Amino acid sequence: MFLRNDKGTMKITKDNVLKSLSRVMDPDLHKDLVTLNMIKNVETDGKNITVDVNLTTPACPLKDKIQNDCIEEIKKDFPDAGTIKVNMGASVTSHTDQVKNAILPGVKNTIAVASGKGGVGKSTVAVNLAVALAKQGASVGLIDADIYGPSIPLMLGIKEKPRVYQDKDTMKMIPLENYGIKLMSIGFLVEDNAPVIWRGPMASGAVKQFMSDVQWGELDYLIFDMPPGTGDIQLTLCQTIPLTGAIIVTTPQEVSLADARKALHMFARVNVPILGVIENMSYFIAPDTGVKYDIFGNGGGEKMAAETNVPFLGSMPIDPRIRVGGDKGIPIVYDIPDTEHALSITEISQNMAAQISIININKASAPKLEIEIGE
Ligand SMILES: Nc1ncnc2c1ncn2[C@@H]1O[C@H](COP(=O)(O)OP(=O)(O)OP(=O)(O)O)[C@@H](O)[C@H]1O
Ligand SMILES: [Mg+2]
Repeated sequence: MFLRNDKGTMKITKDNVLKSLSRVMDPDLHKDLVTLNMIKNVETDGKNITVDVNLTTPACPLKDKIQNDCIEEIKKDFPDAGTIKVNMGASVTSHTDQVKNAILPGVKNTIAVASGKGGVGKSTVAVNLAVALAKQGASVGLIDADIYGPSIPLMLGIKEKPRVYQDKDTMKMIPLENYGIKLMSIGFLVEDNAPVIWRGPMASGAVKQFMSDVQWGELDYLIFDMPPGTGDIQLTLCQTIPLTGAIIVTTPQEVSLADARKALHMFARVNVPILGVIENMSYFIAPDTGVKYDIFGNGGGEKMAAETNVPFLGSMPIDPRIRVGGDKGIPIVYDIPDTEHALSITEISQNMAAQISIININKASAPKLEIEIGE
């Protein structure tokens, strides 16, 4: 029941405003904001209303829609209200997993970027996703776990090696940073150009060290750039890393799609949820004519996602600027942020963040948003 004032319209009180907000749904999580505990504060002087909404990720694709819906619902009940201000904040939900909490206590979510086939753009996607998330306000780390060709330091323009310091009885490494991202790479462990022959246990040993002996601090998302393929090394790695979920990168070609399916099965075998499929090198727009060419075919990634019942997160075109950005160490999301390509990467990052929020909310028995780690 709403309390009414003398004019018969709704009285503006905290409780009444909350009732209006209980009609605003989060379209991804299929629950209302009050049930989801997303309303952090309601202030009113009886005329003006201020609401603080706390979303599950700063990279929320529906941020503007949810903000507008809140204003709409409040206006419906309180047409005479003065100013209505809805502040949008976020604290990322955490994936709860005993192994993760023990080995990566400050890290809320871990994501593997994988592919069946090599050279499809995993590292490019991993770097640009990380930069896009960081630009939207998330704290992000990146682990280059590609034993065959660690390429992330180059793509992020990082040339130095991490520093090591003594923490009680153990040595800890301090991750390197650029574009607001903390980075560790298998490349830091090997001398330049030295050919490395890795086996599964060595690779998982190195990645374990990156999880336990690196001072990551508090991170919303820790992304792992995986080596291509679905062999023993990849399987060992995805059993070693306590993963919130995995992303599969593919090109639209049938050979790449067939390998991507194998990658999907590999993660299914070890019970890692698939956050979604990304199609890279989907099309090319000729800069002089604006004509779109489907160089490797089109729509294969989306079709495969639909067939295997996993989310399709989006596609990235082929563009020389994406390669040049990688070679120069300036990711496209940072270098030319207003291009269609940079915007599509941002959208992909938002879709991925939404999938993580969905997994975490569904896993939590009660709709608690922030699960304190280590308590
Ligand atoms: N959308 C794109 N447009 C243009 N060039 C791209 C695009 N995506 C990736 N590339 C380029 O293709 C090459 C391979 O990409 P990348 O290294 O990201 O692939 P990968 O899947 O990580 O490869 P590997 O399996 O060897 O680790 C790089 O030179 C990169 O700059
Ligand atoms: Mg790579």
